[in-house]
Amino acid sequence: MNDSILASLRQAIPALALKTAPADLEHYGRDWTRRWTPAPLAIALPDSIGQVQALVRWANAHGVAIVPSGGRTGLSGGAVASRGELVVSLERMNRVLGFDAVDRTLTVQPGAVLQTVQDAAREQGLAYPVDFGARGSCTIGGNIATNAGGIRVIRYGNTRDWIAGLKLVTGSGELLELGRSLVKDASGYDLRQLVIGAEGTLGIVVEATLRLADPPPPAQTMLLAVPSFEVLMDVFALFRGRLRLQAFEFLTDRGLEHVLAHGGQNPFDAVHPWYVLTEYDAAAEADQADALAVFEHAAEHGWVLDGVIANSEEQTSQLWRLREGITEATARYRPYKNDVSVRVAAMPAFLAEAQALLGASYPDFEVVWFGHIGDGNLHINVLQPDGSDDDEFLRQCAHVTELLAGLLQRHGGSISAEHGVGLLKKPYLSSSRSDADVVLMRAIRQAFDPRGIMNPGKIFD
Ligand code: FAD
Ligand code: MLT
Ligand code: ZN
Repeated sequence: MNDSILASLRQAIPALALKTAPADLEHYGRDWTRRWTPAPLAIALPDSIGQVQALVRWANAHGVAIVPSGGRTGLSGGAVASRGELVVSLERMNRVLGFDAVDRTLTVQPGAVLQTVQDAAREQGLAYPVDFGARGSCTIGGNIATNAGGIRVIRYGNTRDWIAGLKLVTGSGELLELGRSLVKDASGYDLRQLVIGAEGTLGIVVEATLRLADPPPPAQTMLLAVPSFEVLMDVFALFRGRLRLQAFEFLTDRGLEHVLAHGGQNPFDAVHPWYVLTEYDAAAEADQADALAVFEHAAEHGWVLDGVIANSEEQTSQLWRLREGITEATARYRPYKNDVSVRVAAMPAFLAEAQALLGASYPDFEVVWFGHIGDGNLHINVLQPDGSDDDEFLRQCAHVTELLAGLLQRHGGSISAEHGVGLLKKPYLSSSRSDADVVLMRAIRQAFDPRGIMNPGKIFD
């Protein structure tokens, strides 16, 4: 059956590159979650918009489901193909197509890697400010599909704030040009914004035009050791009130210890319970003096135990490694990832309740907290103990996630801040979105993808 379907695809698009070797099916059929067994039909690697359109039309005619695939760094199973889908990898469509100095935009193919895009912007004396640890392997197409956030959201916002235009091949194979780089456009619904964060369920992003920013001013990086999580938001309010922040992240001793075990360097003599990693504008000596004054103010209130300021690029990278290295350092435990958000103002109350809930619910598991606390976004990672049973571990995680979802609902938060719903958070969608929302989302999906071939089973069934 698979052979005849693939023969028909080869016949329909003879120049299309296809991979079917078991190692390729395994490699392209999963993302960073590693919780679902990959079982795609095949991997298609189009090299043009025309090929994408042709294969979507072919998939419609043959009722074949498609999973769009970028760098597969996703953390919620959005790019997983475990049910005989055709994976459409955009890795061959990875070029920077052009720069417009007047519009200050960069046009790229969807498979362009985030870091390549950042470098291309820098070469033009500008910046593409979306940034996070997967920059070396995630793609712009995947970033758009998940509305990726990261470590600069506090200053620059999410991916959706930087997409001037995009081209989409819809689920029926039509090519749409959305946004068209217009600064102002009041001619009806902004379909571009519907596509951003749609996790590949409306179509395949085949080109994107990105807005660029002025390069960020010189910054200083400070790591603070904090005595308790109760004061985290006090420290945040103080720093945000007095400095121009570029990042405000937090981690705990647990995350730090995993990174240290992977070669990170502890700048302090001791391990402390909570840490803040912050970066702020420091173009002039006066800014640095302000930062010191703020630190001293925090110390006088007992809000910080220790602090270190990076005094070289190398030290800056070492400090950032302590925060950004947690995902990789804990990956071997295949953490069950919670990626939740509440309004920044709701954070203190939510944090207190979440900590009590998780402390009581996961007595036997190691829980590693970190995240973009300045955006109200926490990553709560439950590490699977070595040798434990997968099903039992997931059953317990599901039970606690139900409770967490209830808590989020009471605090008006979201079960997915930046990783997407994918497969992982699908059972909890109703805690963040009303029934009416979901009815409308389904109708929108039906309009873009009448036969339901685009990433079926992701976000909702
Ligand atoms: P994939 O994983 O390949 O796909 C993600 C989703 O996008 C899937 O649903 C897929 O079907 C869809 N998709 C991919 N390409 C297209 C396309 N061209 N058209 C339509 N749909 C498409 N995320 C954050 O938001 N913030 C972080 O700080 C962050 N840090 C991370 C750090 C590490 C170390 C890792 C491993 C991941 C991190 N992530 C983070 C998660 C992940 O990197 C992002 O979700 C990223 O945007 C995924 O991009 P990707 O190209 O790998 O997409
Ligand atoms: C991060 O902020 O480092 C990412 O979202 C990755 C993760 O949650 O593991
Ligand atoms: Zn994150």
